[in-house]
Amino acid sequence: MNEPVGIALLGSGVVGRGVLAILSEQQDLLERRTGLRFEVCHVVCRDVNKNADLAKTYNLHTDTTRAVSDPRVKIVVEVMGGLGAESPINEAIRSGKHIVTANKALLAARGNHLFPLAKKHGVSIGFEASCAGGIPIIDALTRGLLSNRIDSLTGIINGTCNYILTQMTEKGQTYSQALSEAQKLGYAEADPTLDVNGRDSAQKLAILASLAFNCQVNERDIHITGIDTLQADDIRFAEELGYAIKLLGIAERVGDSLSLRVHPTLVHHGELLADVNGAFNAISLYGHAIGHQFFYGRGAGQMPTASAVVADILGVALGIIPHTFARLNIYPGQLEPARVLPFEQLRSRYYLRVSAADVPGVFADITAALGKHHISLSGVSQKESEEDVSVVPVVVVTHRATEGDIQAALKEIDALATIKSPTVCLRIVDVPKEFA
Ligand code: HSE
Repeated sequence: MNEPVGIALLGSGVVGRGVLAILSEQQDLLERRTGLRFEVCHVVCRDVNKNADLAKTYNLHTDTTRAVSDPRVKIVVEVMGGLGAESPINEAIRSGKHIVTANKALLAARGNHLFPLAKKHGVSIGFEASCAGGIPIIDALTRGLLSNRIDSLTGIINGTCNYILTQMTEKGQTYSQALSEAQKLGYAEADPTLDVNGRDSAQKLAILASLAFNCQVNERDIHITGIDTLQADDIRFAEELGYAIKLLGIAERVGDSLSLRVHPTLVHHGELLADVNGAFNAISLYGHAIGHQFFYGRGAGQMPTASAVVADILGVALGIIPHTFARLNIYPGQLEPARVLPFEQLRSRYYLRVSAADVPGVFADITAALGKHHISLSGVSQKESEEDVSVVPVVVVTHRATEGDIQAALKEIDALATIKSPTVCLRIVDVPKEFA
């Protein structure tokens, strides 16, 4: 038997502990399958006292330099999260260690520095766990789908938001009740603001879109709206119209540009994405040869994320990831910048909820403003207000229009004396139809 593969684990939180559990509990299975044994040489944490239970089994300390410079260590596994992980990762790469990371925030912000640095030092970065938890979407994009020109990639890529939306829709929970449950279940980031404001999804979309479309997509290229401003009324009204509201990350070719966006979106109940509930994630993509592919699985939480981390540890130890990483020209830092479609040029169908005073003529004013900006309506319904009877929610569904026209019309509508609060504007996704 060869020497064990030495690992330094940076981070002892939810995911780190899941990684330790798989490596110890599945040791025999992993050895039978790969012929390799793994030894966790270091577990680096922020506070040794808070992780005292791990000290019984592992070499637990707070010194990243000691861990990454240990000659026994071949793979540094970073599950600390946050931009502060850049410095130990840099140090590890410069010491010739392969990296496995779940850190989407860091890869989205600094991937174009870290990937070339790793290539220069002859090591690799495995990052399956950075996107969509346990779903092997990075493996698919870097191997199984390599022969395809990808035309669109749409995903539910934040488990916390999907959990919150599901609980609000199906269990009638409030936003804050559902968020606090998602935190207890280990789905949310240390700072859940990143989940609910859409940035976590945008970071993942930047990583996935760069691989799928072979161009450098940065978080700042993506239009982002989170679920933190979504109102329960709109979830209800959308359901009445036959739609679920999902936080989607969307990247699609429009001519020679890419439309890139994360926002709460109405998805018709006939579509697969509408039935993805709880902390599950899904990625729906269209390749020119393969047609429609749908990936579904647990997108957050301890063991699904740890599953992806350990898969990368195996991939590195077996030489599969280092080989792919060295050979392919698909990683940030070696790609042309994305040509991004300006958001106002987006064409979509829209759901609008106008809060109108209950007076004659208001309906005509709304439709006049929409008509003036070339927006054609496919449905209008007046709802009953549950609170203020003097204000009538009017829900308008449009045919395809441009974002620029919609925003211009809303500016006029919201300036009317009869409109009592800013109009809610949500996009309705039209999932591409598979070519014949
Ligand atoms: N906070 C993330 C989510 C964890 O909820 O999806 C997985 O990246």
